[in-house]
Amino acid sequence: MKETQHYISENREKFLNELVELLKIPTISADSAYKNDVLKGAEKVAAFLKEAGADVVEICETAGHPIVYGEKIIDATLPTVLVYGHYDVQPADPIDLWTSPPFEPVIKETPIHPEGAIFARGACDDKGQMFMHVKAFEAMMKTNQLPCNVKFMIEGEEEVGSSNLGIFCKANKDRLKADIILVSDTGMLGNDTPSITTGLRGLSYVEVEVTGPNRDLHSGLYGGCVANPINVLTKMIASLHDENNHITIPGFYADVVELSLEERAEMAKAPYSEEKYKQALDIDAVYGEAGYTTPERGSIRPTLDVNGIWGGYTGEGAKTVIASKAFAKISMRLVPNQEPETITELFAKHFESIAPAGVRVVVNPHHGGEPVVTPIDSIAYKSAAKAYEATFGKTPIPVRSGGSIPIIALFEKELGLKTVMMGFGLDSDAIHSPNEHYGLFNYYKGIETIPYFFHYFTEAMK
Ligand code: BES
Ligand code: MN
Ligand code: MN
Repeated sequence: MKETQHYISENREKFLNELVELLKIPTISADSAYKNDVLKGAEKVAAFLKEAGADVVEICETAGHPIVYGEKIIDATLPTVLVYGHYDVQPADPIDLWTSPPFEPVIKETPIHPEGAIFARGACDDKGQMFMHVKAFEAMMKTNQLPCNVKFMIEGEEEVGSSNLGIFCKANKDRLKADIILVSDTGMLGNDTPSITTGLRGLSYVEVEVTGPNRDLHSGLYGGCVANPINVLTKMIASLHDENNHITIPGFYADVVELSLEERAEMAKAPYSEEKYKQALDIDAVYGEAGYTTPERGSIRPTLDVNGIWGGYTGEGAKTVIASKAFAKISMRLVPNQEPETITELFAKHFESIAPAGVRVVVNPHHGGEPVVTPIDSIAYKSAAKAYEATFGKTPIPVRSGGSIPIIALFEKELGLKTVMMGFGLDSDAIHSPNEHYGLFNYYKGIETIPYFFHYFTEAMK
């Protein structure tokens, strides 16, 4: 381990320069205009894996963007760690709000990252975090300290629902045989408060369309006489929460696992300051479901949020018009044991039922995903905890996150594999937002911590 850690400290600059190279490629999976850049990103990841010492490296084509697969098998009788990550990123817009261009990485200091952070789309989610594994692997390889087998499965479609990765897993069950899946695509509580993610919320995502009259109308001639789709849509959306901010869709909470008071008390031990939370977001109050704290609202409780709403005239000046159509994108974050298909159906049935006469409503489901909870008494969790203890000098806190990585539940279903989520990002890293960044402290700490996980996990599996 000493040699591996030494290699890491000697190669800090190289590791950073290589990440910069990767961050320069705009691997935006959602936008077909970037298809070729996404492929370039895959090729770059493959080249880095090869250079780091992987024997087999393959760019696996799919119906969408490619999956990069790599492996180093040192001894079939030893345990195997399957590393999952994604090299695709979210679109960068709104571009104007970036203080430096999203695909021209720069290091800047921030109050939370006084040692500097690298600013670029994908810096934290997930290129920076995924690349820690490539560099940790390199460090173990170059110092002859890789203790077990490792496989890499780095996809290019996480931000658009991972639909082809599911197919890839089904078709490659043998090749993907492993003892554990290791993922760094989540966060931790703070740089002096390490934590391990033990849960993710599921997701149900729909697009709704409300149609009124067959054409846009003069709001003077027709206003007050026909249903205005925008008025109707906003009213329907408003009715989806009651005065306690409970979701009003019948049956929505039927399968929700309620935590015991003991479990909630355990959760409340994690450090959290409402004052700091409000300050960081410039809000004078938090807002959410009655009866739950902010950390609970953001992790163990399901939610419903409008992600986008449009219709009518939004250009310069005023136009007096009643639009023919109004639209919204709505996401629901799910918790165990809610099923995305069931929730989508409940939503559609309810939303159609509350539409007044005079409009037609269509609900179109998008991709979804199941929630995840991982055990804290497993060999993998305990090994991860020991790894953090080695590098942070502190025992990490188990924390359920509010985000979603739909493919993780699928790994368990298709491959029968559990996942351990060693995320090193911070909530303040602005993932999916303008000025996404990743702390250099976090990047290097991740690279240092990962070899300890490999070490402790291999030891414990013997
Ligand atoms: N890495 C994130 C998920 C995440 C971030 C989980 C931080 C926990 C903490 C992932 O790339 C992501 O953005 N997931 C999407 C869902 C996906 C289907 C687009 C999400 O959570 O909105
Ligand atoms: Mn991610
Ligand atoms: Mn993401």
